[in-house]
Amino acid sequence: MGWYRMVAKPALFALPPEAAHLLAQRLLVLPLPWERLGGCARDPVLRTSLAGLDLANPIALAAGFDKSGRHLGPLGRLGFGYVVGGTFTRRPRRGNPRPRIVRYRERASMTNAMGLPNPGAEVVARHLAITPRTSPRLASVADEAVEDVIGTHGLLEPHVDGVELNASCPNVSWGRDRDNEAHLAALLRELGARRSTPLFVKLPPFRRDVEREVVLALARIAVEGGADGLTCSNTRSVREPRLSTGQGGLSGRALFDRTPEIVSEVVAATGRAVPVAACGGVSSGADALACLDAGASTVQVYTALIYRGPGVVGELTSGLASALGARRLDDARPP
Ligand SMILES: Cc1cc2nc3c(=O)[nH]c(=O)nc-3n(C[C@H](O)[C@H](O)[C@H](O)COP(=O)(O)O)c2cc1C
Repeated sequence: MGWYRMVAKPALFALPPEAAHLLAQRLLVLPLPWERLGGCARDPVLRTSLAGLDLANPIALAAGFDKSGRHLGPLGRLGFGYVVGGTFTRRPRRGNPRPRIVRYRERASMTNAMGLPNPGAEVVARHLAITPRTSPRLASVADEAVEDVIGTHGLLEPHVDGVELNASCPNVSWGRDRDNEAHLAALLRELGARRSTPLFVKLPPFRRDVEREVVLALARIAVEGGADGLTCSNTRSVREPRLSTGQGGLSGRALFDRTPEIVSEVVAATGRAVPVAACGGVSSGADALACLDAGASTVQVYTALIYRGPGVVGELTSGLASALGARRLDDARPP
């Protein structure tokens, strides 16, 4: 997408990351031709479903881009198969002190320590109520106390098509310091009877064996607890002295080498019981295809949208449509 690379990206990247993000969100409220800027391929070969939700394509926007619930309308118009807003908490959160995002331009990656800033579930519910539903949408939800998650879920569920529990944020204490397994099991137990839309659980990534065992155990607990799908994965925890917290979550291309493998391990560990959304450094149609081949049903992206602009939706969907279309032709050919 020439205009983004030549004009918008240099202007946005001249600003500190959070100022650029704020500006991008201001632009999103303008009545621009977002469908055309996204350039999404409309090809029946891309149609799919996720836990009962019909999707025009499997490419989705990951949580964290819209933390207020006000921009999901234009973001959906870019052509994403679904969009995830949040993470939202029951009460407003300011997040961690700044600086809390660092870019690595040469690797098309970044590290963030946002700490889940958001206006709180009541305000978000009001935003969602007046934000047009231009694509299926999920609300990402997390909190320290189970009753707060239940409260947020109750307030937001009427305005979304499903909820993604963020069981994996590296930037808040409850992601690391408490018994994640018990917390997740309790959440699923409590939400089980109350919910009327699909429930997804977003897991952390893993590299070393010990992390792998923890994440696969969480995946099994999620499935046994009745989750309708899993998202693999959130950012990877790394040290970054330029952040106020000294550490944060790595996202973008630097993550991709592990993503298909994580997906296939989670798919195997859960016996294909529920669909898996791949997430982590996907930035091309070939990356997305590798995730689908590893067993993912959909593919979420965030950092590629920052580095490539809205046209990334068109690049990913048309790359995927060509590859899937060519495979269908091959399959149809007589041996
Ligand atoms: C600035 C920033 C904020 C994020 N905030 C959230 C969040 O609030 N909740 C969440 O589940 N994931 C959050 N993420 C993680 C993304 O949803 C995604 O899992 C991760 O960035 C890996 O995908 P990517 O490489 O395509 O960006 C955030 C990522 C970034 C870069």
